[in-house]
Amino acid sequence: MTTDFTLTDLTPFMGAEVHGVDLGAAMPDATFGAIKRALAERSVLLFRNQDMTPESQIAFSARFGELEKHVLQNFCLDGHPEIFVVSNIIEDGKHIGAFGGSKEFHSDLAYIPDPSKGSVFRCLECPEGEGETEFVSMFAALDALPEEKRDWLSQQSAVFDYVWDYSRRQTQRPPLSEEQIRNTPPVTHPCVRSHPETGRKTLFVSPIWIRNFVGMSEEDSQPILKELTDFATGPDFAYRHSWRAGDVLVWDNRSTLHKACPFDEENSRRLMHRTTITGEQTIR
Ligand code: SIN
Repeated sequence: MTTDFTLTDLTPFMGAEVHGVDLGAAMPDATFGAIKRALAERSVLLFRNQDMTPESQIAFSARFGELEKHVLQNFCLDGHPEIFVVSNIIEDGKHIGAFGGSKEFHSDLAYIPDPSKGSVFRCLECPEGEGETEFVSMFAALDALPEEKRDWLSQQSAVFDYVWDYSRRQTQRPPLSEEQIRNTPPVTHPCVRSHPETGRKTLFVSPIWIRNFVGMSEEDSQPILKELTDFATGPDFAYRHSWRAGDVLVWDNRSTLHKACPFDEENSRRLMHRTTITGEQTIR
């Protein structure tokens, strides 16, 4: 099928830059369909120089599916509960967005029963030469695992526990409310899942929220998880994106992990808007 855009690969195994698309403008269904297919195959899509508003970001993101309203509504944009603000900026003595929390590899909302399909992340401000976002391909990591490990993982499920992880890591954020705790009970997902659009198998471990493998203690599970995530998050499967204002990245949460890279949080400003697309049940 012919499309009105072109793609340039960002790495041999993951990511493509999309040229010739204005995400803020009306988009024919055929163009959107081709973008969706490219995302399922390449896992991360980059669109440079996009002139978007919160409304046009929401409208574009909603073509992929329903949008999540994040459990931390205190970090969402006023009047736009679908936009999760990720930022170190403080205004009137208050953080305007989620800060300091995403510097470890994860897949967005992997801790809910139907983990997110994908995210749309728009850069409004980022310091030069730092504050990148790094991705790893969980397709590539699974393919590279020794067969015996792959077979073992294909039989395993893991318990994702947001409240447990929040209490051990988010010591600088306000504690979760009773309602937030009630809304995020532990959930179980297979460690290897089939991508719903292509059927390709992908590793589905999001290290920060996994407490244990099903049927195994936390104590026994954590060293296995560490070895696995050290392997999967290695440079062979990684793409690190250096941000410019106006960049929009769309990533597939089913086949990637990502993390924010450090920057000088005291002296520079980083402001990003994320929309998070509701996902589907995880299937082996
Ligand atoms: C995220 O975890 O969704 C944001 C990553 C980043 O801030 O680079």
